[in-house]
Amino acid sequence: MEVVIAPADELAVLAAAAIDALLRRKPEAVIGLATGSSPLKVYDELARRHAEEGLSFAQARGFMLDEYVGLPPEHPERYRNVIEREIASRVAWAPDRVQGPDGLAADLPAACAAYEAAIDAAGGVDLQLLGIGTDGHIAFNEPGSSLASRTRIKTLTKQTREDNARFFDGDVEQVPRHCLTQGLGTIMAARHLVLLATGKQKAEAVHQLVEGPISAMWPGTIMQMHPHATVLVDDAAASRLQLGGYYRQTFASKPAWQGL
Ligand code: F6R
Repeated sequence: MEVVIAPADELAVLAAAAIDALLRRKPEAVIGLATGSSPLKVYDELARRHAEEGLSFAQARGFMLDEYVGLPPEHPERYRNVIEREIASRVAWAPDRVQGPDGLAADLPAACAAYEAAIDAAGGVDLQLLGIGTDGHIAFNEPGSSLASRTRIKTLTKQTREDNARFFDGDVEQVPRHCLTQGLGTIMAARHLVLLATGKQKAEAVHQLVEGPISAMWPGTIMQMHPHATVLVDDAAASRLQLGGYYRQTFASKPAWQGL
């Protein structure tokens, strides 16, 4: 696991540069998309590179991490709409090349199985963007999630619903109670994991993710088992890391050709 500690704007450029390099090497790459605040600056930087540097998503595929259950199709916080607004529409990514789990399906388990099959059929995810919840969830794999789980329905914790109330006029009652989420096993099958976390409220989750024992209580800790995981954090999110000095020194002395 590589840990990079830098200001948020630099982290976004690093993540976007990794996606840029992937797409130029493999135009038909499969990108895993996160919602929430953490990837927004990455999406800004990708939109800039699309507009100014010819970065193309025309042949790429996108798969979202998760979706709320039951939000109406036009709801602005439905994750499929968030992804369309924040990235797909800005980089001319055809709607049929970006998919999420169907939170409005009549048969939710069948929709989850279909989503797993679609990811497989696309050849698997090349680079998966991730954020982390204050309770340590990645995607919506809340504490107690099976470390081998696949896409399924989950119940959001009170803490996650409170954290996400800011997207619903501050009203926690408007935040759905259920979601469909890629499982930890699904995420672990991606070839490169790139997690972004900023702010003091993420410091304990980041400490556990990088330095804690692997445990379903902190679901992101499964990333310690991944052969290519990159954790991008700002000073505040890094503030509880025991080996912060070592991670800073390692990144500072990393040869430029190595990339993420
Ligand atoms: C969103 C997702 C979640 C968020 C996490 C952090 O698709 O999967 O795991 O990444 O809740 O959210 P923010 O970035 O809003 O702090």
